[in-house]
Amino acid sequence: MTTDVPEEHLLGQFIPLHYHFNMLRDQQRMAPFREAIDLTVPDNGVVLELGGGTGVLSWFAAQKARDVYCVERNPALARAAQSFLANNSNGDRVSVILADAMHYLPPEPVDVVICEMLHVGMVREKQLQVLHSFKERYRQRFGPLMPRFIPDTSVLAIQPIQQDFCFSGYTARVPLFEPPGPHMKDSWLADPFFYSTIDYSAEIPLAFQVATEMTIQSDGLFNAVSLLTNNFLAFVLTEKRAVTWLMNQLVLPIQKPFAVRAGETVSIAFEYQAGGSIEALQESLVAHPETRSAAVSDHIYLRRAA
Ligand SMILES: C[S@@+](CC[C@H](N)C(=O)[O-])C[C@H]1O[C@@H](n2cnc3c(N)ncnc32)[C@H](O)[C@@H]1O
Repeated sequence: MTTDVPEEHLLGQFIPLHYHFNMLRDQQRMAPFREAIDLTVPDNGVVLELGGGTGVLSWFAAQKARDVYCVERNPALARAAQSFLANNSNGDRVSVILADAMHYLPPEPVDVVICEMLHVGMVREKQLQVLHSFKERYRQRFGPLMPRFIPDTSVLAIQPIQQDFCFSGYTARVPLFEPPGPHMKDSWLADPFFYSTIDYSAEIPLAFQVATEMTIQSDGLFNAVSLLTNNFLAFVLTEKRAVTWLMNQLVLPIQKPFAVRAGETVSIAFEYQAGGSIEALQESLVAHPETRSAAVSDHIYLRRAA
């Protein structure tokens, strides 16, 4: 299906100001970012934030940094950030720059880059493209020494689940977001399979291609997969712990649900571009009992050949 809406206007790229309060009051997100920024930004350091939104993460950084460059592409948000920062202590250390992070470079080398264009599974938002492009251009301008990145690492996983797609008695197999946690354990059919570890200081992937077999651990109806993303924002080595933000999981119905029993093996395959649509990921998703794993490989092979 085609859409007439330009890419930069799609939700995920474009988040209007009246949605930002959800992010601002989400303590699962804010608290680890605040701690990670405090741990990572050196006193009097220089920080770049790509995708600054309301400016809140830049403001956290400004409590320690000498200068913070806060890049935001949406003019309404850049204006809002500027006025909010003017009313918060040390906000004058932040320069809000109206620019596209895909092209922007700071006027001087920076100690830390903060980028929160994160979406579970790295779909829709352009976190990986932006940082991939930034690193290449930064290296050309300032040499091989890279700044530190927040997040430091993102880990992606997939899990077969049984999901109740019933809403007030109405069954609708829609993609949905849910907070992860022990309450979901009832629907788990197997432990998560970790398919990518993105180390932002190393080569950043721009696409994912996964074909795996998983052993089912609980009887049930395999009718959906859950995509999980945990972001390691910083590491506290002295305390042997990480500051993490585990995002809401994305539950995607599979095309042909089937019953499974503990001990059986299932095959799951999918492929997608970083920043691509949920629909494209879902269209590529194939899940079968193990006996049909050859069909999964054929499917992937045929898709690639097409
Ligand atoms: C998920 S929001 C996070 C906002 C803010 N950093 C925070 O944590 O509250 C991502 C922000 O990135 C901005 N953005 C998306 N693509 C961008 C681009 N190519 N260049 C600059 N900003 C961009 C969006 O307008 C949005 O404000």
